[in-house]
Amino acid sequence: MSSFHDQLIHDAGSIARSAGELILTLSSKERQISYKSGRDMVTEVDQASEHYIVSEIHRLYPEHEILAEEGSGSSSHTSPYKWIIDPLDGTTNFVHGLPIFAVSIGIQFEDELFVAAVYDPHRQELFTAGRGQGAFLNGESIFVSQTHELSKSLLATGFSYFNDDYFKLNMELWASIYGKTQGLRRAGSAAIDLAWLACGRLDGLWEFSLKPWDIAAGALLVTEAGGQVSGPQGEVINLTAGHIIAANPSIHPHIIKEISLFKHRL
Ligand code: IPD
Ligand code: CA
Ligand code: CA
Repeated sequence: MSSFHDQLIHDAGSIARSAGELILTLSSKERQISYKSGRDMVTEVDQASEHYIVSEIHRLYPEHEILAEEGSGSSSHTSPYKWIIDPLDGTTNFVHGLPIFAVSIGIQFEDELFVAAVYDPHRQELFTAGRGQGAFLNGESIFVSQTHELSKSLLATGFSYFNDDYFKLNMELWASIYGKTQGLRRAGSAAIDLAWLACGRLDGLWEFSLKPWDIAAGALLVTEAGGQVSGPQGEVINLTAGHIIAANPSIHPHIIKEISLFKHRL
């Protein structure tokens, strides 16, 4: 390893891979589901994955701050490093046996995205990135697509668990954009959508009201693969607000333009 940055990329990738394998191992057993609110589920497998990831970070980097979806993180007043973890992104798919879910680990250094690892255990695909170092799929460089026209693009989005204003807005946006593209997808895992955008399988995506752990790793994957990531009006993304527009550089302005028709609703 040539640097601490490389070491972090390696460790985040290896923890994500092991957590993903753990999810597959546990998925064959009966699992307890509970409801956080509305339709938003958590299973024992989400919790086991998070427990494994957090214990590995404590072992390797005990001073680092951790923000983890299921609540087992810890704050730090001394370290500039913050791990942002979704132990299982795509829980609804997981519960139904639909093989589209991932482990997502992002690391910030001084509030800037620094390291990304997204692992898809069904396809054994490990996506990694380091700020300024490019993006990789199983160690090979990846790049966003070169699709230039919206009419030739394959886009993705997702919907909040709640029947709120963002859900209604996104249903209208879907109807408005659909016919202008080659197709829209709703795969059910924001981390997978972002990873697939980074390697050119999708040309762009948007989603509202996500959480930092859904997008921290994926946002860095996309920018390091040559894509653009922003808020809904093209501004710098705010992980806490959770609105994300990400696409290759040709398609990104088209999505921003489509969303601008609805900007009074954002
Ligand atoms: C969800 C997925 C989904 C997105 C939801 C997220 P979870 O995460 O990323 O694609 O549309 O908004 O909450 O609950 O499966 O970790
Ligand atoms: Ca998630
Ligand atoms: Ca999750």
